[in-house]
Amino acid sequence: MRRHPMMGSGCVTGAPTPLVTPEAAAGTNAGDLARGRSIYLARCAACHNPDPSRDGPVGPAIEGSGRDLVMARVLFAGYPRGYTPKRPTWVMPAQPELAPSIADLVAYLRGS
Ligand code: HEC
Repeated sequence: MRRHPMMGSGCVTGAPTPLVTPEAAAGTNAGDLARGRSIYLARCAACHNPDPSRDGPVGPAIEGSGRDLVMARVLFAGYPRGYTPKRPTWVMPAQPELAPSIADLVAYLRGS
């Protein structure tokens, strides 16, 4: 079993850790709606719509998208198992550097 030194309960420094797994980013953090909104506008809205409830010039409406879908799309340009995509195309690039922001994006897209 591998144990990462930052994973123990002894991490009380509050220093930001660069090693955020997608699971940690998307699962344990509640997500910050305002932060998600600014990331969405900067990294998604050019293809999707600035209003995520509407289709964009390139991408479909994605309001309400859940964690599994956002994570699969943004990190791997994939889909969760069994999900039927809104579009049959493969235009959207992965942006794996956004792993720490998945929870924020989901909070924004779900409106909570
Ligand atoms: C280069 C344009 C582009 C960018 C940038 C982009 N997308 Fe997409 N997105 C698309 C397109 C086009 C699709 C439809 C499938 C395809 O062709 O890849 C899509 C599909 C999706 C879907 C799945 C919709 C469904 O239910 O089938 C989600 C969720 C999504 N995008 C979220 C995001 C998020 C979040 C970001 C920003 C981090 C983002 N996209 C950035 C173009 C883009």
